[in-house]
Amino acid sequence: LPAIRRQSWNVPSFVAAEGTLPRLEREFTVSSHRLQTMVRHLVNEMKKGLAQDGHTLKMIPSYVISRPTGFETGSFFALDLGGSNFRVCLVTLEGQGQTRVRQTKHIVSDELKTGTGEALFDFFAECIGKFLQELGLNPSEPRSLGFTFSFPIEQHAINSGTLMQWNKGFSATGVLKADVVELLNKALKKAHINIKVTALVNDTVGTLISHAYRDPQTYVGVIFGTGTNAAYVERIEEIPKWTGPIPPTKEMVINTEWGAYDEASVLPITSFDRDLDRASTNPRKQIFEKMISGMYLGEIVRHVLLDLISTGELFKGRSSQTLTTPYQFETAYMSRIERDHSLELSDTKAVLEDILGLQATTVQDRRIVKHVCELVGIRAARLSAAGVAAIVTKMNRLDACTVAVDGSVFQHYPHFANRMRDALRELLGIMAENIVLEQARDGSGEGAALIAALHGHE
Ligand code: GLC
Repeated sequence: LPAIRRQSWNVPSFVAAEGTLPRLEREFTVSSHRLQTMVRHLVNEMKKGLAQDGHTLKMIPSYVISRPTGFETGSFFALDLGGSNFRVCLVTLEGQGQTRVRQTKHIVSDELKTGTGEALFDFFAECIGKFLQELGLNPSEPRSLGFTFSFPIEQHAINSGTLMQWNKGFSATGVLKADVVELLNKALKKAHINIKVTALVNDTVGTLISHAYRDPQTYVGVIFGTGTNAAYVERIEEIPKWTGPIPPTKEMVINTEWGAYDEASVLPITSFDRDLDRASTNPRKQIFEKMISGMYLGEIVRHVLLDLISTGELFKGRSSQTLTTPYQFETAYMSRIERDHSLELSDTKAVLEDILGLQATTVQDRRIVKHVCELVGIRAARLSAAGVAAIVTKMNRLDACTVAVDGSVFQHYPHFANRMRDALRELLGIMAENIVLEQARDGSGEGAALIAALHGHE
């Protein structure tokens, strides 16, 4: 089987010697069989979450009941808080699937992430104020805005929802269980900005809807970024826990919050994953996310490297201060290392020595580091593919489905998309050809504007 062959890497001969590496390979390799089991289990968990609240997969009804036709027009504001970045956008829908976007991007500092909710929301209002000023717009004129808030929100209406849990390193106080639309409205009022939030949207839902504006075959939106999650279009009769009115479309977009998936008998959880989880701001939560997303991949590698150093198998047993500091081995370094095809692995050397402060690394050291990155990167892509396969299976859309995918890992991590496609092929066989993974860029803000356009009158 080509699928099996694809699983065996070109492992340098020294790696095959006795030691930690063969064990790492065993632990990080996800067989086709395990992926199949995972897909079946995920589909079941999705059904449970649709039936009742309180299950691992929250399967949150988004109140988004219609997909765009592509003919919507108008200008809308959007705020987009994803993870590391925060954007303010003015989206002009030009019809025929065309949009124009003006935006400003801000980094959310660790102080803001972990300070008070008031400071965080005041910062949002301040950024909107500046943006209006840049555009020469009067803040006292009434406007509406779509708010992309990419955390698990229990949605009460299209423009109301309470935060169920922080993740991705956020812990701002006073936000948990609060209605984030009210918090934003309050901050806007305080800053004398006359904007009303008309839609509250998850980034996956935004990505789905903005892509559907161009391609009506889009039924799934996925993020592989700082965090990971997926949303898809579900038939209302498949959502037993929905007690609201039946929408004319008989459809609703569901935010799965799949990052919370944590089935230990299915996921290949290693001791490194457990160590990472224990030391995280949200222990025992978001286990799937911690194996896949950009916030954590580098940190998993860091844990593995420290282990190899402790056994003397790497860097002659010597570490560096940077490498012993949590989250200092960024996922972006993995991308650089995986992209390094030079004979001496010179860019890997630059990362290890110039950035991480390790001394006199050998080519052999670098090969080992690269191999560890591959193991962690391949596992992430394969688990991600199982997630997508579960959704299209649940939807019964194996015949044709566009999956809009956004996020830094999907965009920038080398081979990620191809590794996913390979795994989809293993899982779905020839049917995998019908599942089109399409890069969606910055769709979450645009999607929020579109949803504000579609639902603003409610
Ligand atoms: C986290 C959030 C989820 C979001 C995802 C990607 O998993 O809980 O709401 O969609 O990150 O940003």
